[in-house]
Amino acid sequence: MSDAPVLSLTDVRVNYGGIAAVKGISLEVRQGEIVTLIGANGAGKSSTLKSIVGLVPLAGGVVSVFGRDIRGEKTHQIVARGVALVPEGRAIFTNLTVRDNLLLGGFLKRDPARQQQNLERCVALFPRLGERMSQEGGTLSGGEQQMLAIARGIMAEPKLLLLDEPSLGLAPRIVQEVFAAITAVAKHGPPILLVEQNTRLALQTAERAYVLVTGEIVLSGTCAELKQDPRIRAAYLGEDVHT
Ligand SMILES: Nc1ncnc2c1ncn2[C@@H]1O[C@H](COP(=O)(O)OP(=O)(O)O)[C@@H](O)[C@H]1O
Ligand SMILES: [Mg+2]
Repeated sequence: MSDAPVLSLTDVRVNYGGIAAVKGISLEVRQGEIVTLIGANGAGKSSTLKSIVGLVPLAGGVVSVFGRDIRGEKTHQIVARGVALVPEGRAIFTNLTVRDNLLLGGFLKRDPARQQQNLERCVALFPRLGERMSQEGGTLSGGEQQMLAIARGIMAEPKLLLLDEPSLGLAPRIVQEVFAAITAVAKHGPPILLVEQNTRLALQTAERAYVLVTGEIVLSGTCAELKQDPRIRAAYLGEDVHT
């Protein structure tokens, strides 16, 4: 199974009551890749990520990690397989210090030397966090909280990182910093499935993209291709394709 994708979704469906939020999508993420799932608010992006880690039930389809069907597993089992989700809205512990937030992220790895190593890696990726190790999470700026949420995900040494809208609500300058770190993470670390509403930024950061519209993938390809696609340019990049 060495050439199996790190993550593969086949015809995945998510329903809420009678409402179909994800209507049979297929995608894959391979070693070394940043893959982005882009789409407007309500398209079904978060539902897709939640279905991967078992936070919402699958109404159909298959989720595989390293070629293994993980349907029906509990969230903690999926996390133990090395799948880390950094949720939308960066759920950090506001009353714990930056250091304790990070150490909690690494609780699965009890080896103190390894935790120290991982802490240092996080600080190398996000120097701002290093300066604020003893500060409470709640005192950080929005951008710093996002950095902390991503760093906490990395502390668990994941084999796959799922990021839900890391740019949401951040100032443009901070967004650049966060996304530079995301690129650096993928270079030496786990592949990333990056969910974004910010199409321009996502297409700059990822190698491949899937476009989700009301629960269906309507386009996919390399980001280089999609940046040139008239449908993307008209609908998402704010360009008039007729000029
Ligand atoms: N817990 C829920 N109960 C009912 N409907 C939901 C729930 N979560 C999301 N939805 C609906 O499912 C659709 C997809 O939502 P979501 O996956 O959050 O989209 P996105 O992350 O792309 O904004 C939306 O129409 C949303 O209103
Ligand atoms: Mg969402």
